[in-house]
Parts: sequence; C-alpha cells; structure tokens
Amino acid sequence: MPDSRTRSSSEVRPLVVITDSDFGDHSIESEVLEPRFELRHAAATSTAEVIEAAADADALMVQWRRIGSEVLDRLPRLKAVIRYGTGLDNIDVAAARARGVIVRNVDDYCIEEVAEHAAAAIAAARRRLLLYSNAVKEGHCSPDVAPAPLRPANDPTGIVGYGRIGRRLGEKLASAGHPVIVHDPYSSAAIADDGHEEAANLVQLASKVNHLSLHLPLTAETAGIVDTTILNQLGPSGHLVNHARGSLVDEQALLLWLEASPSATASLDVFVNEPPTGKSLELVKHPRVLASPHIAYLSTASLPELRRKAAQHVIDALCHDETPSPDRR
Ligand SMILES: NC(=O)c1ccc[n+]([C@@H]2O[C@H](COP(=O)([O-])OP(=O)(O)OC[C@H]3O[C@@H](n4cnc5c(N)ncnc54)[C@H](O)[C@@H]3O)[C@@H](O)[C@H]2O)c1
Repeated sequence: MPDSRTRSSSEVRPLVVITDSDFGDHSIESEVLEPRFELRHAAATSTAEVIEAAADADALMVQWRRIGSEVLDRLPRLKAVIRYGTGLDNIDVAAARARGVIVRNVDDYCIEEVAEHAAAAIAAARRRLLLYSNAVKEGHCSPDVAPAPLRPANDPTGIVGYGRIGRRLGEKLASAGHPVIVHDPYSSAAIADDGHEEAANLVQLASKVNHLSLHLPLTAETAGIVDTTILNQLGPSGHLVNHARGSLVDEQALLLWLEASPSATASLDVFVNEPPTGKSLELVKHPRVLASPHIAYLSTASLPELRRKAAQHVIDALCHDETPSPDRR
C-alpha cells in the first residue's frame, strides 16, 4: 500500500484514493480520472489502512470499507466520498455532511440485475426447485417431498421497499401473473399508480403473501425489521428473499424459523457478516437457503457502468460547486 507521506508537496493534482474494491484493476477509473487527478489504489482491509493511505486525499472511492468520523477526522483535505454501489450504510453520511464532505452513491446501475435476481429466486421457490433438488440428490424421487408448486395467480408476493428496485420487481412479478402486495410507508402514490395492493405494515404484508422480498435501505429504523413475528406471519411454507442488506433480518430468528418449518425457504444474497461467519455461515450452509455472495448487482453491463458513474461522481463533486444530495439511504 502506498505511503501517503511520500506524496510530493509539488503535486498539484487532486488526489483520489480508491480505498478498496473487488474489481482487480482500475482501468476504467484511470480512463475517466487521469491525468486530471492523481489516482491511488489502497486495497485497504481496515480503518487504519484507509487512514494511512488516504491522509492527503481530496476524494475517496469506497466499496466495502466503513467511513465514519474516526476516518473523516483524520483526512483534513477530504471533499468527497463516493460509494461504489447503492447502499450508504457503510458511510456515516451525517458525519460527512457535518464536515462539509459531499457523499455520493451510484443508485441506478443495477436496478434490472437486482430485480431479476429476486424475480428468479421467487420463480425458483414457486416451483420448489431447491426442495426437489435436495430431495432428488438424496434419492427421494417422489412429488411428495415438497408442497405442490403454485401457479403465479395463486401465489401472492410481497415487496418491502418500493423504490427503484422494488418497483421494477413489482413490474416483473405482475407481468408474470403474481398478485403483488407492497409495504413502503413513503411510496403510497407509486404503489397506487402501479395498481398494486398496499399493506399498512409489515406484519399485515407477511400474513398475506407467500414470498416476502426486501428492497429497502439498512438504517437505524430498519435494522432487524424481519424478526420472529414477521417470519411466523409469513408461515411454515413461506419464502424470505433478502437481496438488500443482511442486518435487515434477525439471522437467529431466521434459522429458528427454518428449523421449525420443513417447507420454509430463504433466498439470501446478503448477510450480517460478509464473507459469512457465525449465524451468517449457518444460513449459507442451510439446505433450504439459496445463497449467493452479494452479487445481485452483478452483470457484464452493470459493473463497468458502476465504475464509470462512480468516477464521474468524483469529477462532479470536486469540480462543480455542489451541495450534498438528499440521499435517503
Ligand atoms: N445485493 C445487491 O447487490 C444490492 C445492489 C443494489 C442495492 N442493494 C440494496 O437494495 C436497497 C434498495 O435499493 P433501491 O435502489 O431500490 O433503493 P431506493 O432508495 O430507490 O428504494 C428504497 C425504498 O425503501 C423505502 N423504505 C425506506 N424505509 C422503509 C421502511 N421502513 N419500510 C418499507 N420501505 C421503506 C423507501 O421509501 C424507498 O422507496 C439498497 O438500499 C441496497 O441496500 C443491494
């Protein structure tokens, strides 16, 4: 990792530090940002490494590392934090704003991908693919190993969070023939415009649907929103889809629900611990969990779009006189 103290005082270009990323190379970021900006890739694995690599940064590009006041206080030149992705739960947005630091996310690069990931999980669960696959691999070749599959029209599906991804999922589910019921206390007008039934609260929604798909941000208000009460309402052959953030779900409650309900299933792309350890790992290994490693956003098209848009946000934040956007995440 480069040592920030070795940067020449004659260096005039603003410094952009990529704190961490899964991308392997930074050719797209270089193409957009150099030679106007100096680009440094830190590959930081801890807060201390972020601080060490970014002490003289003008902007950060961040995928997974946490940027809180302990980092912000150590980066006196910092003007912008750009998140590679949609969720801002690893960035302390309030602390950044209090210090005049602009925060941006890339919120529109993977709407289709995440909505499709959820729609695919719902179709697979409706056809009981995981249950049949597990049974047939163990030599049980009878239709009785799972509840009979449903037609979409008989399979009401719930969406929690009716923003960009939830709305696109609603479109896909409705066109496949599912009755769609939505809970989002901030989006009643859009739910009505699209002709879906609205549920006043999560308990009511869970009691009416077979699949419950989460598409809301992780905040202090939403952490642990899916607990034993909600899972019990979803019922013994319900299907929980979480492609939003792991900590929206009480993982211990989810494990207990799966154990108590032999036909219950879950499709999880996100976990409290990533990479999975502890309860998160127990869930990954559970035979009735369809797991993926936080890749719902991924496609050959989405990743270059994410990187290009994130780099463009750096230019917008450092070169245009902008005030922080009213992000809700
Ligand atoms: N797994 C992945 O690869 C991946 C990729 C992109 C996004 N995500 C996650 O998906 C989430 C949704 O993304 P988006 O682009 O649709 O966001 P968005 O901001 O467009 O929509 C979020 C919606 O959630 C609603 N909401 C907020 N609090 C709520 C509550 N208590 N109950 C019900 N609804 C509530 C908001 O009103 C909003 O309509 C992101 O916050 C992110 O965490 C995951």
